[in-house]
Amino acid sequence: VNGKVEIPVVVNVLYRTTAENISLTQIQSQINVLNQDFNATNSDFNKVPSLFSGVKANVGITFVLDQVIRKSTTKTSWGTTDTMKKTTYGGIAPTSPTTKLNLWVCTIGGGILGYAQFPGGASSTDGVAIDSKYVGLSGTASAPYNLGRTATHEVGHWMNLRHIWGDANCGSDLVSDTPTHNDANYGVPAYPHYSTCSGTPVEMTMNYMDYTDDNAMYMFSNGQKSRMSAIFVSGGARSGFGI
Ligand code: ARG
Ligand code: ZN
Ligand code: CA
Repeated sequence: VNGKVEIPVVVNVLYRTTAENISLTQIQSQINVLNQDFNATNSDFNKVPSLFSGVKANVGITFVLDQVIRKSTTKTSWGTTDTMKKTTYGGIAPTSPTTKLNLWVCTIGGGILGYAQFPGGASSTDGVAIDSKYVGLSGTASAPYNLGRTATHEVGHWMNLRHIWGDANCGSDLVSDTPTHNDANYGVPAYPHYSTCSGTPVEMTMNYMDYTDDNAMYMFSNGQKSRMSAIFVSGGARSGFGI
């Protein structure tokens, strides 16, 4: 990032139950987590093993809560087909998606914690959906996904990051300083966990782009930082946000 990227965040809350109509406190706790995780001020950043101390990143992107839009619904779950983003389906259309990050907070269902649109897609569906049970730190946030890392992971996708295992056994995430992983890791992996891929590297299971529990993920790498920063420069897919 050449200058400073500051991302205004619009939070679109779709609720059927009062619990789903999450509080401003819970929403703000999520914004705070994004700021910590993208600026290496998360309290668990010091847990990064020394093996990765040379590549752990301060991404240097900040987030500011712009507005919260709330709408009641009779839907019990929204799925992953972007209906929450469409007024014709009872959803909420994004606000200024080329200059603001839109988050949709709703019940997704099917065991899905959240999902994101990569850069380069339609503006009308751009942003990140997060199930209301996995937003922020308080209220409805439920363990082991109650540290706000679902949003960190999904915003990583929104900023062009792939899963660290490349969605294939020994696949590529297009980032050179992250080790090649066999597959997704879950739970709280013991360290070191060795890959059986070429070179048998120690896997970076504590990376936000793996699938571990919230308390087991606490870093981006410098290569991931470069990939994210590239979309915000002039000519990049999200240049409307950056400098
Ligand atoms: N897209 C992933 C899912 O829905 C999100 C994983 C987030 N991981 C986490 N520890 N919060 O399964
Ligand atoms: Zn993902
Ligand atoms: Ca890699």
